Amino acid sequence: MTIERIKSYITGLDELIQGGFPKQRTMLVSGSAGSGKTIFGMQYIYHGAKNGEPGVFITVDERPELIRQDMANFGWDVEEMEEEGMMAILDASATKVGFPSDEKYSLPQVGLDVDELILKAMKLVDKLNAKRLVLDSIPGIGMQAGEQEMRSVILRMNYMFAKEKVTAIMTSEIPEQGFGKGPTSFSKYGVEEYVADGVITLHYLGAGSGSNRSMFIRKMRGTAHVEDVLPMEITDEGIIVKQPEKGYNY
Ligand SMILES: Nc1ncnc2c1ncn2[C@@H]1O[C@H](COP(=O)(O)OP(=O)(O)OP(=O)(O)O)[C@@H](O)[C@H]1O
Ligand SMILES: [Mg+2]
Repeated sequence: MTIERIKSYITGLDELIQGGFPKQRTMLVSGSAGSGKTIFGMQYIYHGAKNGEPGVFITVDERPELIRQDMANFGWDVEEMEEEGMMAILDASATKVGFPSDEKYSLPQVGLDVDELILKAMKLVDKLNAKRLVLDSIPGIGMQAGEQEMRSVILRMNYMFAKEKVTAIMTSEIPEQGFGKGPTSFSKYGVEEYVADGVITLHYLGAGSGSNRSMFIRKMRGTAHVEDVLPMEITDEGIIVKQPEKGYNY
């Protein structure tokens, strides 16, 4: 049986991974600060919603209202999709700092409780009949937790994704110093990359102008994919990936 695919809607990417992500699997999108992880996640959820596939976006680091504003720059009317019941943002950012949230979907003002987060996320997925989910970000959850605990959190999250039959993206960080001779670790806790069925890293050499963003598909289970570094751009329509260039490097 061939693996079913779900479109990433990252322009240029789907044709390089046999049509899209393997359905109902977990993808890790990892990169340093400003590398485009949140945009990647929103592009996946927003265009999914636009095309008839409901999605849930869990934000741990950034306030939902700021995400809506930022995404409007790409012409994405997030609120419209929310009103149509095609997408929902679950706000875990306020609770993390002990503030009440004005959001429709949020967590109690008691500090981030992972079990509560999982429960709320499951309810929301059921409510929307969501096929897509983004958890942005894993390290954001880890602020109050030790590494050991985070391993368990990541495993539980992944179990929830599978149980809910969503195709999920979780975001994580790669330490910049990992790039000396190519990255050695692809995620903050080192466990995300093993739990995930696919690992995509985003790279940004944030000095000067020119083509300084790239994407790399580290693994994609069950998928024949390109193995080259892919030049990437963030344009006014979101993330665009180009065909691999010979000799292009990080
Ligand atoms: N309209 C735009 N056109 C071009 N580039 C943009 C645009 N909007 C944002 N960017 C770029 O995208 C970056 C932000 O991307 P994003 O928030 O997805 O990064 P991130 O990896 O989630 O960062 P963090 O780790 O801080 O959460 C900005 O720093 C900027 O370089
Ligand atoms: Mg982000």
